[in-house]
Amino acid sequence: MSPVILNGDSSHHANGTNGINSIKEHVSLDGFGTRAIHVGSEPNPETGAVIPSISLSTTYKQDGVGNHKGFEYSRSGNPNRNALEATLAALESGGSSAIAFSSGSATTATVLQSLGPDAHIISVNDVYGGTFRYMTRVAAVNQGLETTFVDLENADDDTIRAAFRHNTKLIWIESPTNPTLRLIDIPRIVSLAHEAPSHPLVLVDNTFLSPFYQSPLVLGADIVLHSLTKYVNGHSDVVMGALILPAHHAALTEKLRFLQNAIGAVPSAYDCWLAQRGAKTLHLRMKAHGTNALAVARALQRSPHVEEVIYPGLSTHPRNDLAYRSLSSQARTFVDKYLKANGDDAGGFPYGGMISFRIRGGAAQAEKFLTATRLFTLAESLGGVESLAELPAQMTHGSIPPAERALLGIGDNLVRLSVGVEEEEDLVADVEQALEVAAASA
Ligand SMILES: Cc1ncc(COP(=O)(O)O)c(C=O)c1O
Repeated sequence: MSPVILNGDSSHHANGTNGINSIKEHVSLDGFGTRAIHVGSEPNPETGAVIPSISLSTTYKQDGVGNHKGFEYSRSGNPNRNALEATLAALESGGSSAIAFSSGSATTATVLQSLGPDAHIISVNDVYGGTFRYMTRVAAVNQGLETTFVDLENADDDTIRAAFRHNTKLIWIESPTNPTLRLIDIPRIVSLAHEAPSHPLVLVDNTFLSPFYQSPLVLGADIVLHSLTKYVNGHSDVVMGALILPAHHAALTEKLRFLQNAIGAVPSAYDCWLAQRGAKTLHLRMKAHGTNALAVARALQRSPHVEEVIYPGLSTHPRNDLAYRSLSSQARTFVDKYLKANGDDAGGFPYGGMISFRIRGGAAQAEKFLTATRLFTLAESLGGVESLAELPAQMTHGSIPPAERALLGIGDNLVRLSVGVEEEEDLVADVEQALEVAAASA
């Protein structure tokens, strides 16, 4: 087994020194796209292979008892998983270690289990449905977890302060939220958390923007979570999740890594290899997702058949300033160049690939639109190279009771788009023709 590059912090991570130096060097010298391609992917010193091999062995030879090359058993550590974790730690700015899991949901479950019995957390009210389900129907029942759901976008400081209890251990943020793309001011929530006597950690689910557009650890968060299933892998062929933590949380990282092994919800070597391959083009894809989504959002804005377009990159979006302020440094560079080239005509700036809109009419027009598109495939999930469209009220958010859906603004005419990286003109034309078909059906 040849050495791999590591995020090297624990006993089951082999050959630490070279890996650690290499990552530090890359992080200080190289930009996002360069790190995506090189960290965790150094040529194999034995064979010269430029791309890591897939290491399927479940167990590893020991030269004497306890004398091994850093790998003992593949649940505890695997070369491809370590390599992917190194890549992720180098991409999520402010990160030092990453821990990969078999799904975003397994990642969520592991974090919440780490809180122990009878903890209290505060969660954004618009959280991903599966996260809501785990909090309220699994952790609540099995470990006595109590969750207070708060509108972290609009609640004033005193309302948020009033939600803190002596045992509040975590604040769970998702920003932008799904599907209404509300934006949460992460530094504001972090400073409220620092004031709280129980010193809760702040976790940000950064799935929607990916490490390219938003760097929550730089904004003061303690933990970042990703469903790698979405943008990081980016090709709709892997289900996986990960946590990324900063260097000052070494003890917490160890605790979560212990649970990764003890609970065992680990990804396969092949999936890690695929996700690492996907991550190599994250920067290219995220720029294309962003420019395509802005073009589609503007086409939707121009249409008489659309009531409202929700895309935080649009200059008309109520939180457009916050979106700009919270851009990662690499996204800021990209967006500033884009604005310089396109000026005010741009109508906004690229900000990820997710758009929601309310079609004029109701469920019938929404459904007609969804079956009239030629390129947007009617399907759940998001973040792949191909464009997808769905009806949250009946699909991704169908399990939320209608009254709560209404409160969250998830009506029957709300359509969610995951804008892919096809040609911009083709996607705009597809949306425009499907809107005409839907309107004609009224
Ligand atoms: C924001 C967000 N977080 C977490 C998850 C869960 O991830 P997974 O489907 O990989 O379990 C999802 C899935 O859609 C999601 O959208």
